[in-house]
Amino acid sequence: MISIRFEEFGSVAELNKSDRELLGQATLASETSYSPYSSFEVGAAVRLANGEVISGSNQENAAYPSGLCAERVALFFAQAKFPEIPVDAIAIYARSREFKLDKPVTPCGSCRQVMAEYENRHGRKIRVIMGNDDGHVQITEGIESLLPLMFMLDKLKKK
Ligand code: THU
Repeated sequence: MISIRFEEFGSVAELNKSDRELLGQATLASETSYSPYSSFEVGAAVRLANGEVISGSNQENAAYPSGLCAERVALFFAQAKFPEIPVDAIAIYARSREFKLDKPVTPCGSCRQVMAEYENRHGRKIRVIMGNDDGHVQITEGIESLLPLMFMLDKLKKK
C-alpha cells in the first residue's frame, strides 16, 4: 500500500517560525520572476543544513522549453555553491498576474525528480512548503509524498 501525507494550513500565521520565514523568502523571490509568457510569478527558497538560504524565481524564454522553474533555479544554484551540504527544506510561492489562485502551488514533475535526487544524494528528506497569495499552505516531509514510485536507479538495483 502507498500512502501520501500532507499538512494543510489555512493561513501563514499557523506555520512555525522557520517555515514561515522560508515562505517569506520565497515570496520575496517571486518578485524577480521573469514571466512575460505565462504571467505566473513563482519564487522558491532553499534552506540548507548549514543554515544558508538560497532563493530563485522562474525564468522564461521565447524558446519556451529553455526557461526554468523557480525550484530548479534555486536548487541547482544552492547545490552548485554548496555541493556537500544537504537540502533541509524548500518553500515555493506563486501568484498569477491574470487570475486568483485557489490552492498552493505544487511543483512540476521535473522539479520533483530533481528534489528526489538531492534527497537521495545526501540521504536526507526535504521538507516542502507550498504557498500562494491567498495564504493557504501545504507542507510535506520528503518527496515520496509528491512523487510516489519515483525513478531512482540505485533503488532499482537488487541488493
Ligand atoms: N513554474 C515554476 O516556476 N514552478 C512551479 O512549481 C510551477 C510552474 C513556472 C514555469 C513557468 O515559468 C510558469 O511557472 C508557468 O508554468
